[in-house]
Amino acid sequence: PVSLKGRSFLTLKHFTPEEINYLLDLSADLKAKKRAGIKGNLLEGKNVVLLFEKTSTRTRCAFEVGVLDEGGHVTFLGSGDSQMGKKESIEDTAKVLGRFYDGIEFRGFKQETVEILAANAGVPVWNGLTDLYHPTQILADFLTIKEHVAKPLNKVKFVYAGDARNNMGNSLMIGAAKMGMEFWGLAPKELWPAEELVAEMKEVAKETGASINFSENIDDVKNADVIYTDVWVSMGEEAMFEERIKQLKPYQVNMDMIKKTENPDVLFLHCLPAFHDLNTTVGKDIYEKFGLESMEVTDEVFRSRHSKVFDEAENRMHTIKAVMVATIGNL
Ligand code: CP
Ligand code: NVA
Repeated sequence: PVSLKGRSFLTLKHFTPEEINYLLDLSADLKAKKRAGIKGNLLEGKNVVLLFEKTSTRTRCAFEVGVLDEGGHVTFLGSGDSQMGKKESIEDTAKVLGRFYDGIEFRGFKQETVEILAANAGVPVWNGLTDLYHPTQILADFLTIKEHVAKPLNKVKFVYAGDARNNMGNSLMIGAAKMGMEFWGLAPKELWPAEELVAEMKEVAKETGASINFSENIDDVKNADVIYTDVWVSMGEEAMFEERIKQLKPYQVNMDMIKKTENPDVLFLHCLPAFHDLNTTVGKDIYEKFGLESMEVTDEVFRSRHSKVFDEAENRMHTIKAVMVATIGNL
């Protein structure tokens, strides 16, 4: 039987397919329990701290509600709220927080930071997004696929169109390799993931039966079960807006791309937040300058029957709760 007690959750690279399946099954159980109105106690007596250098809606709220639903306590520290990395090293902060808390979540820039926290805290550390990886998001994405695609994950053709070099591109490729999926990254070559990471995942794919493919030709969406995209400009990269629009405009997920799949039931997913309309302040001057009505996905696709992005967003909560329950819970 699988147990993840005491483990940190920094990247899916560290987890076996069996362990990932365990987390997905636990998520589904916790979701069913919540839907049935059953209050849990799996985190009773547990204290959790959330460290955020970058902003968040879903991830922060998923951790907070996840802890509270299972009877635990939570502290939130935003980027200006603690001494970490300013008056005190990350190592010392980790040693202190590990004395107070049973688990530590970190969202921020460097993957190294979450690794230093995990190496020094003495308690599980969870990656709530870094520049390199966003592993909790992948669990929500795969749970959503299991709910809406009538095929096992290892029969799914998964297409990611957009910035394949960002945290989502990297993490979806890792998740797909682990779960034996047919993964396609559609992007200009300069936005494919680092070659070493691709090579590493192709090795994983040999064991799991996955295939890892990259292409600049959007016709390769044909027969996709899932089309996924993410913002063209990630948090911290706002200076890249113009360049990314020029690079990625041909890879926008629009109804033409949906039709090219030749799959009438193709699923559309996006980790959110999404630039599908002009109701944002970030980037507004830039996409108005280019005369765009949307960036990575059109409003039409976003609101279509293909799109399950709000089920996916809800699943952030159930899956993040599962990660905490599995690693520090009273199981
Ligand atoms: N998908 C995601 O991580 O959303 P937030 O940035 O709102 O947490
Ligand atoms: N790539 C995006 C993901 C947001 C959930 C970012 O890092 O901003």
